[in-house]
Amino acid sequence: MDNIDFFHHLESTSTLINHLRNRIAKSSEDDWQLIIEMNCLLLTIDDFKTEPKLIKFIEHMNCQQKLAIYRFKPNTCYKWHIDHLGRNCCVNMLIDGYDSLTMFGVPALQGQFTNITKLVYEPNKYVLLDVHKFHTVFNFSQERYVLSIGVPSPTTYNETKQYLIDNNL
Ligand SMILES: [Fe+2]
Repeated sequence: MDNIDFFHHLESTSTLINHLRNRIAKSSEDDWQLIIEMNCLLLTIDDFKTEPKLIKFIEHMNCQQKLAIYRFKPNTCYKWHIDHLGRNCCVNMLIDGYDSLTMFGVPALQGQFTNITKLVYEPNKYVLLDVHKFHTVFNFSQERYVLSIGVPSPTTYNETKQYLIDNNL
């Protein structure tokens, strides 16, 4: 049994899902950019205007340049990794693609991983992820879309988590 703090479920419920699905539906292929091998639709702070507390968080943590929807093809995965996107952590929300599996773990000897922990996204709920801990995702039958608010370094996962708790997010 593990008690590693890989991620933190936020209390607040999102009001953004319809807006984000509209952004996806109205996007053209040209709107999707490949950034460090990730297919993403960049967002701006205006996309969050129905959520004042989240806007305050984004401004406080300087996340304005790290707002995006990421898109992943069905029946794909990537290897166990830690993120190198100039961020220690991010606040994510799964938009679509629940037929998927997100896991965190700790590398061990002989290519094994221990402390495997499944991240279960709940509809309209945000999760803070410590992406400087090893993780992987399997995408099964559906295209997966994830909102991701990257928190730029050097702000840490623990600092971000404390801010979210202190601000009732
Ligand atoms: Fe990652």
